[in-house]
Amino acid sequence: MSFPARRLRRLRVSEKMRELVQQTTLSPKDFICPVFVQEDLKTRVKVESMSEIERLPLDDVTDEVGTISDLGIPAIMLFGIPTQKDEVGSSAFDDNGIVQKAISQIKQNFGDKMVIMADVCLCQFTSTGHCGIIHGNKIDNDTSLDTLAKIAVSQAKTGVDTVSPSAMMDGQVAAIRNALDDKGFTDVSIMSHSAKHRSNFYAPFRDAAECAPKFGDRKTYQVPYTNAREAMMEVETDINEGVDIVMIKPALSYLDLIAETRRRFNIPVAAYSVSGEYALVKGASQLGYVNEKDITEEILYSIKRAGADMIVTYFAKSASRFLQES
Ligand code: PBG
Repeated sequence: MSFPARRLRRLRVSEKMRELVQQTTLSPKDFICPVFVQEDLKTRVKVESMSEIERLPLDDVTDEVGTISDLGIPAIMLFGIPTQKDEVGSSAFDDNGIVQKAISQIKQNFGDKMVIMADVCLCQFTSTGHCGIIHGNKIDNDTSLDTLAKIAVSQAKTGVDTVSPSAMMDGQVAAIRNALDDKGFTDVSIMSHSAKHRSNFYAPFRDAAECAPKFGDRKTYQVPYTNAREAMMEVETDINEGVDIVMIKPALSYLDLIAETRRRFNIPVAAYSVSGEYALVKGASQLGYVNEKDITEEILYSIKRAGADMIVTYFAKSASRFLQES
């Protein structure tokens, strides 16, 4: 027998051969594109910490979603920035709130041609900047559940397809599912931020969405990044509560958890490649240390390879452009 017996390089000899044996694919169809819409805004505002990401006035939303749709991206994730904040986040469940207005505008213009997903959380809407309602010095989990359910129902009334709770309150999926079903919205699906970690990678987002906590941190509700089994329990709990799509967040430092979720459960798995992951790539490529397109491609492929069925990413538009070209 000649040595070496196994020559893996045989299947790397040409571009076409490499294409033939490629095991992971990436397409605009894998992406969910975040959209930030701000109440009372007249023109687009750039997000300082996230180059090329903007907050939009309501009037620009249809245009933006048109661009996203033309790129072949099937879904958006809406985040709202309200003018009024209060202790209970009332503007989040106002049927005339900024997110609700955006949803109905998009629904009217795109119908079933775009999956409208919306963040269900309180931190953009509360004066405290926390994801739940504060009583005394603590988050009141169960009162917060009622509010999260009200937000979901209000979004459903205006035409949301998928609500995406990100507050990390215990029981949020069950509370939302019950409330939606109770009001007849049995077709509205839930993509939960199931294992959302207490991560330092969210910093640029807080600039984009004005939702930094005014005191303390999110350690009493978000998953510690040291605990993989705890993350799996979060996923399992959401599945038991009737979630439709689970999410692991962030993505890049959490590929092990994406892979583990894929192996253990049959439910669709989303990964959220968060603002800090985006900012790292943008920063390094602006300094000329890495090639933005190449490194973005590698990161997104790695998230797919780990087992994600879909990726929420700020690279949705730019990556779709280069995928269409290649
Ligand atoms: C708010 C929310 C956050 C993100 C999505 N929804 C911030 C946080 O929990 O502090 C972060 C997303 C990102 O960084 O891209 N519930």
